[in-house]
Amino acid sequence: MTVHFIGAGPGAADLITLRGRDLIAACPVCLYAGSLVPEALLSHCPPGARIVNTAPLSLDQIIGEMASAHAAGHDVARLHSGDLSVWSAMGEQLRRLRVLDIPFEVTPGVPSFAAAAAALQTELTLPGIAQSVVLTRTPGRASAMPPGETLAAFAATGATLAIHLSIHALSRSVAELIPHYGPDCPVAVIWRASWPDQRVIRSTLAGIEAEAEGIDRTALILVGPALAAEGFDDSRLYAADYDRRYRPTGANPEFPE
Ligand SMILES: C[S@@+](CC[C@H](N)C(=O)[O-])C[C@H]1O[C@@H](n2cnc3c(N)ncnc32)[C@H](O)[C@@H]1O
Repeated sequence: MTVHFIGAGPGAADLITLRGRDLIAACPVCLYAGSLVPEALLSHCPPGARIVNTAPLSLDQIIGEMASAHAAGHDVARLHSGDLSVWSAMGEQLRRLRVLDIPFEVTPGVPSFAAAAAALQTELTLPGIAQSVVLTRTPGRASAMPPGETLAAFAATGATLAIHLSIHALSRSVAELIPHYGPDCPVAVIWRASWPDQRVIRSTLAGIEAEAEGIDRTALILVGPALAAEGFDDSRLYAADYDRRYRPTGANPEFPE
């Protein structure tokens, strides 16, 4: 018996891995985080599966479901939105399962920042403009930020920021970011990326508050010069004179990283 933690993707029912889909189909128990996991994914559950929305449950109750399935020898599909490596609350579940000696596996999913970048048709890392993406958030009612992890500190690097769980704090975020990126820095708010009713709002730091008025909950804020850059260098990867293992240019090619 195994608990399979599965990244359910950003919302579109076909943005799940084949492995994730097949695991859902093979597990007689499915626990899903109802607020963001698309209900359409539950159609992959086998007939007669026990399907539980964990949104109203406590951690104890969720672990209780897993322990009952373990006692009955039933595999569990545990679905969380996006990928499991960020803001999934998987860590605390794994810690409990280790103590109970219940086996588990983790199957990654498409994270919302990737779906948001796809909606913008944008590469977040452009040569000479930005080579880092910071996945971050602002403090919430239940989650303080560790000291040092401020928007201002990340903005000082000039990297592309993907700010989660923060659309309600747009005004405060803009005020923190403008001193570093300037008022004309491009910003986008992507609401329900990959859902049928997805919305994309592009603006500048100075203009985004007015443009995104009324947007709430499932939205991501992307900020940084890469979002609107046109005058960036081509990457060396495809340069005709660049030696690569798969495309050597001379008799004694070098193969840099
Ligand atoms: C609890 S976190 C889950 C993050 C998820 N594990 C991931 O990989 O993206 C929820 C936040 O992720 C962002 N988010 C999740 N799905 C989204 C989507 N389809 N479109 C835009 N933002 C999304 C929003 O900022 C939302 O407040």
